[in-house]
Amino acid sequence: MWSKSERHSASVSDLPWASPLATTLGTYPSSATADSTVRRVRAATASGVRKYRETVAMETPASLATSYTVGCFATVTSRRPARVTMRICSQGPEGATRAWPQPKRPLPLFHSAVNGACTVNASNKVQYMAKTLYVRSGSEEHELAVTDGTIRASDLRRISTDAGPLATYDPGLLNTASCRSSITYIDGDAGILEYRGYPIEQLAEKSTYLEVAYLLLKGELPNAAQLATWENEVNHHRLVHENAKDIITKSRYDSHPMAKLMSAVASLHAFYPSSRNITDACERELNMVRLLAKMPTLAAFAYRHSLGRNYVYPSDELGFVENFLSMLFKRQERHFIADERLVRAIDVLFILHADHEQNCSTNAVRAVASAGNDPYTSAVAGIAALFGPLHGGANEAVLKMLSEIGSVDRVPEFIEGVKAGQAKLMGFGHRVYKNYDPRARIIKKSADEVFEVTGVNPRLAIAQELERIALNDEYFVSRKLYPNVDFYSGLIYEALKFPPAMFTVMFAVPRTAGWVAQWQEGVLDPEQKITRPKQIYTGLRGRDYAALDAR
Ligand code: CMC
Repeated sequence: MWSKSERHSASVSDLPWASPLATTLGTYPSSATADSTVRRVRAATASGVRKYRETVAMETPASLATSYTVGCFATVTSRRPARVTMRICSQGPEGATRAWPQPKRPLPLFHSAVNGACTVNASNKVQYMAKTLYVRSGSEEHELAVTDGTIRASDLRRISTDAGPLATYDPGLLNTASCRSSITYIDGDAGILEYRGYPIEQLAEKSTYLEVAYLLLKGELPNAAQLATWENEVNHHRLVHENAKDIITKSRYDSHPMAKLMSAVASLHAFYPSSRNITDACERELNMVRLLAKMPTLAAFAYRHSLGRNYVYPSDELGFVENFLSMLFKRQERHFIADERLVRAIDVLFILHADHEQNCSTNAVRAVASAGNDPYTSAVAGIAALFGPLHGGANEAVLKMLSEIGSVDRVPEFIEGVKAGQAKLMGFGHRVYKNYDPRARIIKKSADEVFEVTGVNPRLAIAQELERIALNDEYFVSRKLYPNVDFYSGLIYEALKFPPAMFTVMFAVPRTAGWVAQWQEGVLDPEQKITRPKQIYTGLRGRDYAALDAR
């Protein structure tokens, strides 16, 4: 165990073979470690080793505050083309060793070096905080500033390659930050999700969807008066123009409700053309609230249209979720009364789905917004992206998968098929979460509460067996595949008697809060430009046009 006061410094920059570019701070937990590191590095390089990786082992305090500086990291580029990399590991309180990941192999063209500091965060993960990335390309050397753990991709343009200025190639934007955002924080390795800094667990337990929507949009939780005004505003805008309703009623009864929702939301700009004034704060606010308020109405109309039922209009007597359920399920009764436990379960599901930083649909919303579009037009892109089975459509796909499996005894056979690449285990895996999705944990609890009211969904046993086997199977464990938000949400919606086609609609309604908050953040961000990625061209060039009869 060591503490901040026990740290000692050792500079490696005065080593005779060190490149002048490689400024090294070298702060280690103990002088013994630092001295022996320097000795071993010097010996290795002197003996002509071309690649050398040094690991400095250290213990971290068992209980860590938010952020704690534990040492510095340095890569030294020698005068000879050798790369010397020192690697810092941390010994977690539970005995797990975590390390800052090393590049698998050196870049063929460039020698790079970095310097900066390592910190251990609250989840005891070493975070590398480099300040400068040094890149050597042929005889040229470049310094790239590292801020917030990123380099500016446009800085790479200063570096020339045979194919023109250096750029990044990142299909699916796996390792590219596209914006700055203060709305939602995710630590995928630790399974942490926070809206505006509030843990999702607390919000799901204590808050309501409308309160969370206010938080996402405005950055703070409302006080009682603000909340009352906000609820009134949203309630006031729940009605939709009859012609917008007609967009739904004129579609085929058996068309997918997401297709109907997309068309109806796209039409909203036609009813509110002044929403185009996105630089006007009042217009922005008005149209964001309108969209948030009208989504449940349009979603319910899309549902009732597919059943051929009459349309139920919003009721001023009912709260946000209860009113939504009334618009969906009210029949001949004079007053619609929903079971309070179900209202709360839907409210929790809505909170969990409200935002999820730069996911596929939010990125689509921001990309369309970057061309100067209003919230309705931008949200259509979000609905379209969400429709995909790899995104919001996964909850529907989970139900399809469970019904195809059919019974618990067929689960092992299905898992073998997944491992053989014949199918995907829908509702498992996530681009960001490499740990249990915190939303899935909360949904599992909600599912039990819903089943108390509706009776247990018979497919629950199949889902539980899938989870049990997958969480113990090397294939899923090694790929860090855990249940995601969609694994259990479909079971809840099915127990509530929603047809599977409505599941993604039930995702789109609450995600609207995140879309409008992210839309506004993008619009107000002075750094944002129209989204326009580069490509690597792989086609033919300079061909001569051949006349039709000559082909
Ligand atoms: N079943 C089986 N194998 C999987 C799965 C899965 N559900 N997900 C990932 N893998 C495998 C994948 O085949 C790959 O294996 P290998 O390394 O041998 O090629 C490895 O795990 C890494 O997967 P990836 O496709 O590179 O991961 P990704 O980050 O590109 O994809 C994902 C993330 C969510 C699209 C993917 O996990 C998936 O398709 N899951 C099923 C669909 C699903 O549940 N989607 C809902 C996501 S959560 C809600 C939302 O955000 O919309």
